[in-house]
Amino acid sequence: MIEKKVRAYTNIALIKYWGKRNEEVILPTSSSLSLTLDAFYTETAVSLATGAEKDIFYLNNTLQSVAATEKVSRFLNLFREATGIQTPSVIRSTNYVPTSAGLASSASGMAALAGAANLAYGLNLDPKELSKYARRGSGSATRSIYGGFVEWQMGTSADDSYAVPIDDANWDIGMVVIVVNSQRKAISSRIGMKNTVETSPFYAGWLESTAKDLVEIKEAIRTRDFQKVGEITESNGMKMHGTMLGANPPLSYWEPNSIMAMQMVRQLRNEGIPCYFTMDAGPNVKVLCRLSDSDKIKTKLAEIFDPEQLIIAGPGQALQVIAE
Ligand code: ADP
Ligand code: DP6
Ligand code: CO
Repeated sequence: MIEKKVRAYTNIALIKYWGKRNEEVILPTSSSLSLTLDAFYTETAVSLATGAEKDIFYLNNTLQSVAATEKVSRFLNLFREATGIQTPSVIRSTNYVPTSAGLASSASGMAALAGAANLAYGLNLDPKELSKYARRGSGSATRSIYGGFVEWQMGTSADDSYAVPIDDANWDIGMVVIVVNSQRKAISSRIGMKNTVETSPFYAGWLESTAKDLVEIKEAIRTRDFQKVGEITESNGMKMHGTMLGANPPLSYWEPNSIMAMQMVRQLRNEGIPCYFTMDAGPNVKVLCRLSDSDKIKTKLAEIFDPEQLIIAGPGQALQVIAE
């Protein structure tokens, strides 16, 4: 039998998701919007293991801990409950993205797992339903079902909180990703956002502001106004980090080289190259740019960063099934 695996690309939010209103089924406090990237992805195969007592989870060819496997098992339970097939599985996954470093491994990882479980347990979900399943694994995974620009609509309940493709992004837009540090972060996105929601006095302002940003960026994407898309992206990311600075205890994922990278982006802009930065729950900086400017931007950034730290990414595709 040819084992099928599923590939899902990561996505980077231009309008951020930073907080849950329901932690159990993962409902966000606001809608978000991302660009799926072709340079970073996860490939996952799930095969039913008749006779096995528990799921067995390999990530990057390494057998995972009980805790990591239990997280995957809880997710697969959703598929087992829906089908009545109780059989455990062997899960083999490879991240072509650093894991837990703020480069969205949970987005590609959980979207690929959802896609592979959909095949293994035979649920036959369409992309919209798959997006809702992926959401239960990690909020950002909701969006990695689709390529290009994708909106995760917060919805009113677990049934209508899913992603919608907005635009295929085939209009000279992409990112230069600066890998400042690819090590595992100390505080996961899940914990970081929970602390922020619970303690940051800036949170109400964030919610008000991000709703407005979303409306405006969708219009800017529709009219392909790159500058507007970039300005809103940079502003929205900084506001998200502002909520973290206001949390108790205060939270910051930045490193000295993150600030250096932001400074270089501003300098590139002053030199006439339109580009804008955004950051997630980690020290790495993503530079939104015209794909046709990406080589020039990389050359400039290489004055400070090693070439291996600089990765050019174009718009990525939707989740896909591939044979081994
Ligand atoms: P990131 O910034 O990489 O998204 P998060 O803290 O959001 O970091 O999520 C990291 C978690 O995502 C991991 O601890 C693991 O639970 C999950 N994850 C990452 N890659 C995979 C994968 N390939 N398969 C299943 N789960 C994954
Ligand atoms: C800053 O989706 O990783 O990258 O839902 O708890 O798994 P969980 O968190 P996750 O959070 C992503 C936060 C972000 C912004 C974004 O991707 O929208
Ligand atoms: Co994540």
